[in-house]
Amino acid sequence: GWKMEDVMEEEIKVIKGTVGPEDHVICALSGGVDSTVAATLVYKAIGDRLHCVFVDNGLLRFKERERVMETFEKDLHLPVTCVDATEQFLSKLKGVEDPEIKRKIIGKEFICIFDTFAHELEQKLGRKPTYLVQGTLYPDVIESCPPPGTGRTHSHTIKSHHNVGGLPKDMKLKLIEPLKLLFKDEVRQLGRILNVPQGFLKRHPFPGPGLAVRVLGDVTKNNALDILRQVDEIFIQSIRDAGLYDEIWQAFAVFLPVRSVGVQGDQRTHSHVVALRAVTSQDGMTADWYYFEHKFLDDVARKICNSVRGVNRVVQDITSKPPSTIEWE
Ligand code: XMP
Repeated sequence: GWKMEDVMEEEIKVIKGTVGPEDHVICALSGGVDSTVAATLVYKAIGDRLHCVFVDNGLLRFKERERVMETFEKDLHLPVTCVDATEQFLSKLKGVEDPEIKRKIIGKEFICIFDTFAHELEQKLGRKPTYLVQGTLYPDVIESCPPPGTGRTHSHTIKSHHNVGGLPKDMKLKLIEPLKLLFKDEVRQLGRILNVPQGFLKRHPFPGPGLAVRVLGDVTKNNALDILRQVDEIFIQSIRDAGLYDEIWQAFAVFLPVRSVGVQGDQRTHSHVVALRAVTSQDGMTADWYYFEHKFLDDVARKICNSVRGVNRVVQDITSKPPSTIEWE
């Protein structure tokens, strides 16, 4: 067993020894645990020569941008530029239905925005940033170079757009990967001693392409993102209120691009169907669907239909992985 305080001190020493006194470092924050802990560690070592960017791609959850920015600024004092790129992403996603094409578009737009950030920073500083921080973990290192014939291509695909490796290309950034030898639970321990709030460290995983893989089909149609955000927030808040959040690996709502008939008041409605998904898992590779009490499900479904306009039906996903995946796209 390593003592996390020692790991932290050692890492800070290594970063201080690597990054020269004139060097500047950039980091893309995803809002997840890994990039946040990596950036906080680097900030402790070099202070304001670290420059972070957080991109709102328009595919984030309810109030997510405000919530993570508050953690970055108020709790961690990280120097962060927040870029609202909602229009840029959504205009590129308009009319796109294929899940893998959605992912590719999102990955490409992200690189484009990160590139602009890096070049604007260069203008401001009058010199190129030298290093890029990444929250790569030990399991990512193994997954990026899978032994031949193991067929671990899916995980590799997952990492490929999540990852901001080696960009912007013409800057020849060198990588700083301070979490490269750690497992997830060790990163959480490190986060704890770096004062990353406990609630933040325990958040469920969230995919890089965000709500785009939870709205089936065209994300720009039917006010889907807005509806999904409201439904998801009610579901997650109910899970928290019931004290179940930490037992569940991942929980979220899915927007289905179909309408069904309902009756609300004495009006017939023809509105949307949403699905609720909650799973338990060790590592996301396999997962079991989570059993909620009937009373809990009943309350959540009522609350959703009563408070979210455009939804008249709620279903629950009762498949495990395999044969399903955790996400619907
Ligand atoms: P699946 O849906 O493949 O998901 O069972 C396993 C885990 O990976 C997450 N996931 C993604 N993460 N980019 C990401 O960064 C993606 O494209 C992506 N697709 C799935 C998923 O949320 C779950 O935790």
